[in-house]
Parts: sequence; structure tokens; C-alpha cells
Amino acid sequence: MPFSLRRLLQRPRTKSGLPHTANKPYHVAIIMDGNGRWAKQRGLPRTAGHRAGMAALRLTVRAAVELGIGVLTVYAFSTENWRRPKAEVDFLMNLPGQFLKTDLPELKQNNVRIRMSGSREGLPAHTLQAVDEAIAQTADNTGMILNFALNYGGRGEIIRAVRKLAKAVKAGVLEPEEITEELVSRALDTGALPDPDLLIRCSGEIRLSNFLLWQLAYAELWFTDVYWPDFDRSHLLAAINAYSKRDRRFGGIKGGEGLDV
Ligand code: IPE
Ligand code: IPE
Ligand code: MG
Repeated sequence: MPFSLRRLLQRPRTKSGLPHTANKPYHVAIIMDGNGRWAKQRGLPRTAGHRAGMAALRLTVRAAVELGIGVLTVYAFSTENWRRPKAEVDFLMNLPGQFLKTDLPELKQNNVRIRMSGSREGLPAHTLQAVDEAIAQTADNTGMILNFALNYGGRGEIIRAVRKLAKAVKAGVLEPEEITEELVSRALDTGALPDPDLLIRCSGEIRLSNFLLWQLAYAELWFTDVYWPDFDRSHLLAAINAYSKRDRRFGGIKGGEGLDV
């Protein structure tokens, strides 16, 4: 059986087991959008925008490490992005390899651990090889986790998780009543990672585009019109600053006061 319930349960999910409420977000998720429009504005091909987006990712990762972010999840390619012209898809599939080739030494130096969320199915072998290599080479690092959402779709991820749990029930190692929010979370690609505290989307679009549908249930959302290739440390700081002023109530009441009616 490809699914091990024991392994799933062994992974501690968060440091505290509680949602992160401190002023600084622990897990930041970014929808890196607007590469095509950035390029069009300059009379360049869309691929030039994707290339420039890679430089923005470099700056953002550096800044996130310096700021002490725990997990940075970046939306690199959605399951819907296969709808794009083949030439653009091929270009995008080369980017992980290119990025890791140039940046893996610095990532390793910064104690960054690479991981991936998304379906391996359909990804070209060379893309998987680059990501797998980076994951293996950084597996023992203890600093920030850089999680690439690659060939990722929230609904597809939930379906894969539900199938894992259904198989465990069928195999008689899991009772339906034992399926909890915690267990569903762990069965998702993000597994032991705590939910994002802050979601950033650039390029002026105000939608989730099938990103982390389960995990973003209580995230703080921050949007900017800036196109991804222009995104840098200052925008990350602006988002974190806005986050630090938010009052996260999780359905409760401010300050967690007791019954005062
Ligand atoms: C984000 O930029 C990169 C990917 C989706 C892979 P886009 O390519 O979506 O850029 P726009 O939204 O067309 O400007
Ligand atoms: C979301 O951006 C996916 C990534 C950034 C990888 P899209 O550009 O694909 O999203 P839509 O099509 O505008 O919703
Ligand atoms: Mg887009």
C-alpha cells in the first residue's frame, strides 16, 4: 500500500499545534502572478516575464530568510496552467531546473530546505529530477522551508488526500470516525506544514486560482497591483507589516476575553 497511516500520524504538524497568532507570519504563501503583463508592458515575449520572475523569487527568498520566515510556499505552476501554449509550458517546465542550478548553492548556504507540493504526474522527468535533487540536497537543512507549488491545484490535492484516507479505511486501518481536520491536513501535500498565516497575491488579481483551498481557511490575505517581476523585499515587508496590524480572531473575540454579556 503506498499510503502509510502510521507515517502520516507520526509527523508533528506545527511547533505549537496552535494557529500562529504572533505579529510575524510563520508561513507565507505567494501567488507569483503578472509575469506576462510585465513583459507585454515592455514589448517583450511572455517568457522574458517568467525569466524576470525568477530574479524576483531570488530576492524574495533572500528577504524571507533574513526576516526569519518559517515556510515560504510559492505558486510556480498550477494544474490549470497546462492550458497555455506548449512553448510557454515547456519554458516554464525548464525554470525549476534553471533556478536551482543557479541558486541552490546560496539556498544551501542559507540553510533553506526545499520541498514540493503538487502532483508529480504529468511533470517532465527533467523537471522532477531537478526538484528531487534539490529536495535531497537540502533535506538535512533546518532553516526556512521553501515549498514549490508545482503542478499544483487545491481541488486535485484534496482529491488525492481523500483517496489516501479512503484506501486506509478500505484496508481496515482507519475508522471513518477517526477522520479529523488534523488527519485531512496531514494527508494533503503540505502534510506536516502549518497552514499559511499570510497569502500574498500580486498583479491586481483578487482570486485564489485553486491555490491551497483547504490550508488558506483562516489566512490573512494581502493583494498588490505590482507585477511579480517587480516584487521585492519592500513588498514583502509591506505585506508583513499589514499582517502584523491585523487582529486574527479565528471566530473568537478580540483579546480572548471570557464571557462578558
Ligand atoms: C505568473 O504570471 C506565472 C505563471 C502563472 C506560471 P502569468 O504568466 O500568469 O502572467 P499574467 O497573469 O499573464 O500577466
Ligand atoms: C495562478 O496564476 C498560478 C500561478 C501563479 C502559478 P494564473 O495566472 O494561472 O491565474 P489565473 O488564470 O489568472 O486565475
Ligand atoms: Mg496570471
